[in-house]
Amino acid sequence: MKSEKVLITGCGGMLGSAVYPYFTKLYDDVLATDKDVNEKWLFKLDVRDHAHLDSIFKEFRPDLVLHLAAETDLEYCETHPEIAEATNSVATRKIAKLSEEYGTTLVYISTAGVFDGTKSDFYVETDKPNPIMVYGQTKYDGELHVLNNCSKAFVVRAGWMMGGGEAKEKKFIYKMLKQIGENKKELFAVNDLWGTPTCAYNFAQNLHALVETKQYGTYHMVCAGGGTRYDVAREILSICEIDDVELTPVSSDFFKEEYFVVRPPSERLANAGLDRIGCNLMRPWQDALRDYIETHFPSYVRSRIQA
Ligand SMILES: NC(=O)c1ccc[n+]([C@@H]2O[C@H](COP(=O)([O-])OP(=O)(O)OC[C@H]3O[C@@H](n4cnc5c(N)ncnc54)[C@H](OP(=O)(O)O)[C@@H]3O)[C@@H](O)[C@H]2O)c1
Repeated sequence: MKSEKVLITGCGGMLGSAVYPYFTKLYDDVLATDKDVNEKWLFKLDVRDHAHLDSIFKEFRPDLVLHLAAETDLEYCETHPEIAEATNSVATRKIAKLSEEYGTTLVYISTAGVFDGTKSDFYVETDKPNPIMVYGQTKYDGELHVLNNCSKAFVVRAGWMMGGGEAKEKKFIYKMLKQIGENKKELFAVNDLWGTPTCAYNFAQNLHALVETKQYGTYHMVCAGGGTRYDVAREILSICEIDDVELTPVSSDFFKEEYFVVRPPSERLANAGLDRIGCNLMRPWQDALRDYIETHFPSYVRSRIQA
């Protein structure tokens, strides 16, 4: 076991539910925090509370901070820009400054949403961000604060997250499985937005390997391959062995009432930086998705139900 102390922020979410078990297996002393204490192993910390951050750094003295906390709902960020800024940007600056003061290594999780999505190929780390919505802008501001204020820092951009299982998966996969569970016979999925699914469990493993390299900087960390939401939905149906549901491709306009924030048309990332340093452990997204569903949602796989 490693003796370094690890502080994790925003650990009660999708990614935290994979990062926490992985890092507690490796490190003796992990302080997992979130603003909502939804697990008994979580300690309350709202990262907007700068005095609390001061006291945690002073008392716990983390060697490593995994800064996951963020306002991640795009529509909420757009309608509450001041909360998005305080959480994603201002709190990150504070954490970056404290990390520098205490000699702490800081890992900041960012997003493919920092790009405007107009590139026809996969984005690499040398491409210039150009956010088009509040979430992307505040996350990019957070990136700059990290790089400008902390010398031992990693900025790690993830793609469409899959993780959290039955309790915490709240994004696309959950929405698809929920409809399957409700016996819907027609599903709709967007086919004009491109991205790279990112398995939270694979991400946690790769994150640890990256931290070990001490090769600080900005990295993309996504599963291999890209696709649309429609491609992911088709794969989910195939993994669940469902052939009596009609899947209809639609444009993003179809969901514009619910998802009124315009997304970048392409959020496809390539792990060029990880490849360069020989630290790319990410699997093809289809393999990761299969493992994820079979492990965390076995009751949705027909042959498992019948067995
Ligand atoms: N989900 C994705 O597709 C995706 C893609 C790329 C990058 N990321 C990044 O990955 C990181 C982890 O996100 P996730 O996927 O695990 O999303 P998530 O499930 O929304 O987790 C984020 C966690 O941060 C917490 N949080 C929000 N405001 C906070 C505050 N002021 N203080 C402390 N905690 C706070 C949230 O609590 P509440 O739930 O109570 O708000 C939630 O538990 C984020 O930095 C996100 O930007 C996510």
